[in-house]
Amino acid sequence: MGFPQRVFSGVQPSGNLHLGNYLGAIKRFVELQARYDCIYCVVDLHAITVWQDPTELPRAIREVAAAFLACGIDPKKHIVFNQSQVAEHAELAWVFNCVARLGWLNRMTQFKEKAGKDRENASVGLYAYPTLMAADILVYRATHVPVGEDQKQHLELSRDIAQKFNKDFGQSIRDKGYGDTFFPLPEPLITGEATRVMSLRDGTKKMSKSDASDQSRINLTDDADAIAQKIRRAKTDPEPLPSEEKGLETRPEADNLVGIYAALTDTTRALVLKQFGNAQFSTFKTALTDAAVAKLGPIAAEMKRLLSDATAIDKVLADGAARAQKLAGETMKAVKDIVGFVHS
Ligand code: TYM
Repeated sequence: MGFPQRVFSGVQPSGNLHLGNYLGAIKRFVELQARYDCIYCVVDLHAITVWQDPTELPRAIREVAAAFLACGIDPKKHIVFNQSQVAEHAELAWVFNCVARLGWLNRMTQFKEKAGKDRENASVGLYAYPTLMAADILVYRATHVPVGEDQKQHLELSRDIAQKFNKDFGQSIRDKGYGDTFFPLPEPLITGEATRVMSLRDGTKKMSKSDASDQSRINLTDDADAIAQKIRRAKTDPEPLPSEEKGLETRPEADNLVGIYAALTDTTRALVLKQFGNAQFSTFKTALTDAAVAKLGPIAAEMKRLLSDATAIDKVLADGAARAQKLAGETMKAVKDIVGFVHS
């Protein structure tokens, strides 16, 4: 069955938005606005699956919202809001907790990584995280989900949940007149040259908000000096750049920097290597710094300007939440019908 095409994606307000979040996700959110109706969410309910200081969380939520706007997301044409303002996300997540199987969640590598050795002490929320993510997407019956490579497994789980719900409740879906299937199977959109941006200190580790070393990542709020310094110190190998992509295969740090440059300048690794093949890293790093500063400088400045007026950001989020709630409310009403809850 054909579902109307709609994009949904989310970013956690857990501090330190970085170049990976920008190139792997937010930059692509911006591009998709031209082709789809989009819903972009600051996923604060997900953030509290690990401890968040209540005095810091509001700033972190507004910072992600400011990043969305500063990068070029239009909150009037599309929807920008924070998750906790639309209760239907948590409500549908509960239904999905009863659809998803323990065995499915036990396979989630992100839980294993985040819970670490002290698994007994991880929150129940961290374990159930992917069912809430499925609810985020499916409460809008979204069909396309732009994410970085690290979210692929969660997206597959969302598809499994949608499929099992459609199957388990198939009879009820048809009886209540909702067609043959109620939820679409959302498609991950993992595209471009920077689906997995790596740490600047170690080309085999993902660039991440939670890395103890600030030198490992470029933050969206870094100024030109900080960007230049981090790129200058970024780990490399002694060889000049190869002139073809194949030459990057065993060189994770070179591959990462070339990928970042390609994504920042909207080109491909192959074309970057045509230009910089046989160049020394010192030359390439200067060009990379210029590209990063040219792209990120205006974003940082605009974020700063937006964050100086919290009331204005809160208004954008409240307006987006009201519009999102209308859509989510309709889905939830239908889900209640389908599951068999008595409701008004
Ligand atoms: P989060 O907040 O960790 O990251 C936000 C987005 O940034 C991408 N990303 C990266 N891309 C490339 N290279 C990197 N090093 C890198 N680090 C992060 C992530 O893949 C993501 O797209 N669970 C999600 C948030 C979420 C969500 C959703 C996403 C909640 N509900 C529904 C899509 C649909 C997360 O923790 O992203």
